[in-house]
Amino acid sequence: MAPVKVTGAVVAAAAMVLLSSYCYWSFFIRLSEKKKRKRKEKLSMRNGLVDAIGNTPLIRINSLSEATGCEILGKCEFLNPGGSVKDRVAVKIIQEALESGKLFPGGVVTEGSAGSTAISLATVAPAYGCKCHVVIPDDAAIEKSQIIEALGATVERVRPVSITHKDHFVNIARRRAEEANELASKRRLERESNGIHQAKTNGCTVAEEKEPSFFSDSVTGGFFADQFENLANYRAHYEGTGPEIWHQTHGNIDAFVAAAGTAGTLAGVSRFLQEKNERVKCFLIDPPGSGLYNKVTRGVMYTREEAEGRRLKNPFDTITEGIGINRLTKNFLMAKLDGGFRGTDKEAVEMSRFLLENDGLFLGSSSAMNCVGAVRVAQTLGPGHTIVTILCDSGMRHLSKFHDPKYLDRYGLSPTAIGLEFLGIK
Ligand SMILES: Cc1ncc(COP(=O)(O)O)c(C=O)c1O
Repeated sequence: MAPVKVTGAVVAAAAMVLLSSYCYWSFFIRLSEKKKRKRKEKLSMRNGLVDAIGNTPLIRINSLSEATGCEILGKCEFLNPGGSVKDRVAVKIIQEALESGKLFPGGVVTEGSAGSTAISLATVAPAYGCKCHVVIPDDAAIEKSQIIEALGATVERVRPVSITHKDHFVNIARRRAEEANELASKRRLERESNGIHQAKTNGCTVAEEKEPSFFSDSVTGGFFADQFENLANYRAHYEGTGPEIWHQTHGNIDAFVAAAGTAGTLAGVSRFLQEKNERVKCFLIDPPGSGLYNKVTRGVMYTREEAEGRRLKNPFDTITEGIGINRLTKNFLMAKLDGGFRGTDKEAVEMSRFLLENDGLFLGSSSAMNCVGAVRVAQTLGPGHTIVTILCDSGMRHLSKFHDPKYLDRYGLSPTAIGLEFLGIK
């Protein structure tokens, strides 16, 4: 009996060894295949410019993470081809307009914008066979209209007036889309009734006199992008930025914070994350002069005097660009927020210099404000939490103001901090 017992034990031990080495090797083979797949995904070719938009890296901001004891992560939207978070919005607005039949290839997308959205629309429109027409206030930095024109869009610089005025740049942009539609249908009718439209005068045939137009005769119509009220903006982030953040953190995220201009980013990301896990806290960081902080924390947007439309033109409130607003947009109404913080211009300036020195991150004003917000959230939640924010654009677009020492000096905003003491961190 004894040899049989010994043989059985040897066979069992051998089977165990074989089984565990099989498990061991299959685990490593699967792991290396997963790694290969990930590397391939990272290096895979993108199909044209539009496909290169989004899927931006999420980076750990080491300096802020170490200073707060939280994982502070920044979504690098400045790495989009058009240089900002607005590339996603431009793509979504144009795609939805084409799908709904409100825009056709050969059509013109119009927008009233002095900033990133205009640059993104001008960048993306040619990829869809469309043109772009931008109306901007003539006090906006000249570099902006130069960039937009260099991208092939037409630019109309107009006198800055209140949003309630018919000649506010946003209202003019809306009108230009209608004009392009009228021109396109007039030309269509002309073509249908014998090619070239001619009028007879005194028995002679003369070509019809054309009104001056911003658009060529071949334009197929116009579409007003309307980034503030168009919910394609919110959807770009609900379907893109939000899911990307969720996957990149593997769902391990405690909070999200961002400032708002149109509020498309804040609304799309906050709604997506809270639908995934209602325990993810979402916060606004609001620059000086904006009414959103009051709305989020007290339910009241503004005093009567501050209401947009009562001002001839927005007074000088903040040096940050693209963020802060005194009216409730349709996009903002989609946001799901747990609270808000106020940030100052000085804090944003100090933060941008701190990140440049400590992390090599050269960021624009709204990104710096978002990082101020991330530290405020970290201080509120305490160490051990994962907090995500958006790095909207780089410092390159802010050389004449936010990153100009003379400009900052004029407004008493020159950076003086050594560390993060301006946020109460020693
Ligand atoms: C540079 C920059 N950052 C942030 C924002 C704010 O993003 P959102 O409009 O999604 O609120 C904007 C908006 O125009 C912007 O141009």
